[in-house]
This record gives sequence, C-alpha cells and structure tokens, in this order.
Amino acid sequence: MELNVLPVPALKPKVTDESQLVFGKLFSDRMFIMEYDTGQGWHSARIQPYGPFSIDPAAMVLHYSQEIFEGLKAFRRPDGSIAMFRPADNVARFNRSAERLCMPQVDEKFFLDAMIQLLRLEADWVPHNIGTSLYIRPTMIATEAMLGVRPANKYLCYIILSPVGAYYKGGIAPVKIWISDFYVRAAEGGTGEAKTGGNYAASLYAAKQASEQGYDQVLWLDAKEKRFVEEVGSMNMLFLYDGKIVTSPLHGTVLDGITRRSALTLLQEMGYEIEERALSVDEVMEGARSGRLQEAFGTGTAVVISPVGSFCYRDECVQLGDGKPGELTMKLYDKLTGIQYGREPDNHNWITLL
Ligand code: COI
Repeated sequence: MELNVLPVPALKPKVTDESQLVFGKLFSDRMFIMEYDTGQGWHSARIQPYGPFSIDPAAMVLHYSQEIFEGLKAFRRPDGSIAMFRPADNVARFNRSAERLCMPQVDEKFFLDAMIQLLRLEADWVPHNIGTSLYIRPTMIATEAMLGVRPANKYLCYIILSPVGAYYKGGIAPVKIWISDFYVRAAEGGTGEAKTGGNYAASLYAAKQASEQGYDQVLWLDAKEKRFVEEVGSMNMLFLYDGKIVTSPLHGTVLDGITRRSALTLLQEMGYEIEERALSVDEVMEGARSGRLQEAFGTGTAVVISPVGSFCYRDECVQLGDGKPGELTMKLYDKLTGIQYGREPDNHNWITLL
C-alpha cells in the first residue's frame, strides 16, 4: 500500500515552555490515517493535517465500543536524536487487541514504517526537557453505520502525537492507592488483556469515587474472589516483597504491559528473583504493616514508574516505608529512563532511532 503525504497549510505554534506540558492535551500538526473495508482491506493510507474527521452518528464504535488503542513514546536525547521505545512490541499488541475485538489486523511492518515516517515529519514536536516525550497514540475504530451487534465492515485506523510531561500532576511523587473490594475491572474470559477503550470506561466510576475520597488511583482485585491483586487503572503493579519482585501473572485479565516486561527484565538483571504469582490483598496489607512489603510501584508507558506511598483497603490505610519513593523504585526509574534518553546502553535492542 502506498502512503501519501498531504501538505499542511499552517503549522501550529510549537511548545515554548516545556515545564507546562501536561499529559495528552496538545497535539502535533499531522496524523496518520488509513481506512478499511471488508473485501478491499486497508486503503487510502495518508499523513494529513491533524484535525477532526467526520463519522456517521450510527458508526458502530459510538454504540458498541469496537475500539482499540496503543500508547508508546519517542524521547529526545541530549545529542538531539530521537529514540522510540519498543515500538514493534506495541504494534504487535495492537494486533492482539484487534483480534480480541474482531477488528482487522494491520500489516505490522507497514504500520511501524508509517509511524516512523509520521514521527520524522513531526520531529520538532518531540520536547527536550528531561521527563518529557512525544506520546504516540495508535487507534482503530469501527466506522460502519449499522445498529446491529456484530463486527463492523468498515474501520479507521489512525496515529496521533502529543508532546507530554508527567502523567500524574505530582510527577514521580508517591501515589495513594485505594483497593476496591467491590468494583472490578476485568473478569476471566473478558477483554481485560486487550487495550480497548471499554476497559477504561468501565474503570471510571470507581476511579471517581476514589478521587472524591482523596485517593489517586484504584487497585483492582480479581473479579472472582476479589482477593488477588490485578492492576491499577493505567499501570501494572510490581511489589518488592521479602526481597523478591512479585507481580500478577498474565492470565487474560491483566494488560501485558511493555513497561512491565521491560521492568521485569531489568530487575532480573539487577539480581532480583521474579515471582509472577497471585498476591492477595491480605498479603499487601499485612506486608505494608510489618515491613515485609518494602516497596510497590506501577509501570506503564504513560506513568513510566510510579511509586506507591500508601494502600487503603476497607477502613485501613497503610503507608509503605516512610511514604517516599523507594530506593529500588528510583533505581529502576533511572535505569529505564536512562535507556530511553540514551544515558544507559540499550543492551536489549529496545530502541529504534529515527
Ligand atoms: C499508556 O500507558 O500508554 C496507557 O495507555 C495508559 C493510558 C490509558 C493513559
């Protein structure tokens, strides 16, 4: 398939004060877009000015949420070059999500090349400050106008770019986590592992309640017993427990996070034993009280590594350590961001330089 690059009539003003960047509010000048029709496959691939597009009010995505997305980042290095972090893994996961939502596969090489071409054109949008990056959001939506419930025959797939600062307002400040003993994010056999908007929509109600009570995030337990730790809204959870790293196994309800995978690889290389096992909420609370739970942090593209300051469950809140980011959490943060920003060698071929 050919990729057409259309002219951009007027460029937006670039970011002047990068310290003001927040997450996901500002978008670059161009976007990639392609269309799909059953029988024809993907077609009309183009890079065009960023802006609204029109879809039919009956478009199936608007009614039945047939949608998937991805999130990855490009980083500006001190020498001015631009590094993407594990982009092929995101594209592969995009296709796994597509399969689960009965959406068409994309050609991974074509899609990655298109993403790289878009980034090259938008290179000036990659911010320079440490902690900033250009967030890349591939998305696919069902656009067929049809109110019957079945997989659509028409889709739009697009990539937009957003220069971002820290995901949480407090930057790397420890977050206060509420463990829900009622609401659940994903049940076995559901879509928990897919990166689809519905999972996030379903999380909003509990997140709103948590926020109203002064918590930053919700930690979800398994849907069956409401006993075992799964993940937090926008991140996987890792625990330093009795000197070992414990994290929930991937069994269909937890997102197969690329930052999670990277963190596990780096922690293993630092000499930590990794236990992918069911961790109960009782172990978390007891561990925090006794000190056996030494550190806990979330991992995700948007949040990077996010330290947990305290866990609250039912009517008890327990602080981890002195409530400050743990030593290992910060060491891992430095190591991972070091690889992304080029301060550390890329021993795993995670970096694609533009
Ligand atoms: C990411 O970390 O890229 C995500 O997709 C989380 C997002 C919902 C903010």
